[in-house]
Amino acid sequence: MPVTHESWGQCPAGPVTRYLLTNAAGNTVAVLNYGGIVQSIVVDGAEMVLGCDDLQGYLDPNPSYGAIVGRYANRIADARFTLDGRTYELVANENGNQLHGGPEGFNRQLWEAEPLATDTTASVKLRRRSPDGEMGYPGNLDVTVTYTWTDDNVLRIDYAATTDRDTVLNLTNHTYFNIGQTDTVLDQQLQLHADRFTPVDGRQIPTGELPAVEGTPFDFRAGKPVGRDIRADHPQLRAANGFDHNFVISGYDGSLRECAVVTDPATGRRLRCLTTEPGVQLFTTNFPTGKYQMRGGAPTPTYGGLCLETQHFPDAPNQENFVTPLLKVGNTFNSTTEYRFE
Ligand code: BGC
Repeated sequence: MPVTHESWGQCPAGPVTRYLLTNAAGNTVAVLNYGGIVQSIVVDGAEMVLGCDDLQGYLDPNPSYGAIVGRYANRIADARFTLDGRTYELVANENGNQLHGGPEGFNRQLWEAEPLATDTTASVKLRRRSPDGEMGYPGNLDVTVTYTWTDDNVLRIDYAATTDRDTVLNLTNHTYFNIGQTDTVLDQQLQLHADRFTPVDGRQIPTGELPAVEGTPFDFRAGKPVGRDIRADHPQLRAANGFDHNFVISGYDGSLRECAVVTDPATGRRLRCLTTEPGVQLFTTNFPTGKYQMRGGAPTPTYGGLCLETQHFPDAPNQENFVTPLLKVGNTFNSTTEYRFE
């Protein structure tokens, strides 16, 4: 299937290119080599994701629209962790913590890009070496992220990484979905295959507990509208102004398994998320309307989209009971997530 590209302006590190992956049905995924950003997903003529229509929107402060997040997606407490007896000080960017790999994370880097096409898929393979010490992390880290768009409207993301010093790693994609093209996602139905979640303290750092979702607003197991309990009187929701929490995917064993299903009741459109990762951060775009802009310069509405950030748990480098995010020299990190549009 064809992969075309066009030049999309200039970022501080060089020229930016936009790759367009088109499938047999004419549905498209657009990816930038800047930040590995998924800039657009159009299915049956409808835009499925929040984003901007020019590069400036992504260079300006923005909530990581569509981007690859690394080296460590989500938060690391006090921007610090200890590995093999040595403490690494990271570059902090949120209340003394590090969020999404720091101020110059993978979402703000220029990647090398290679388009690849087969009879039934269109891909772009992004590559970059994150140098030893970048944002405070040890090791030269060689990362590839491959986006593949198939004829049956599956966006598959394959992550791979190796290092020359033991390090920690947590890669995700930060796409904001709105499959109904509605002002907010509150009426969209969400099912999460998660019996437990990771509650956070006042700085949004996991407390380490893994309580059951049963009997709480965090129970999406049977599916319910995103907005049904979003304003419930629950301390975890009040603190975040909505859902901004990592869920523990039930039955995690490293194989590709479904973790989430979003259904838009008005159109019947459906999005399934599958992953090999142990967790998924549900973020419901909890910002005040207008804190950020999106396409056409329009203010991004509160609850205007939802992210399903497949990942290792937040702050896992400092939490012994969480699945380890350690990547050792000689090993290869591999992870796959699929977003299936039905
Ligand atoms: C985080 C939010 C943050 C957003 C934008 C989400 O992954 O959990 O707290 O505001 O990303 O960076």
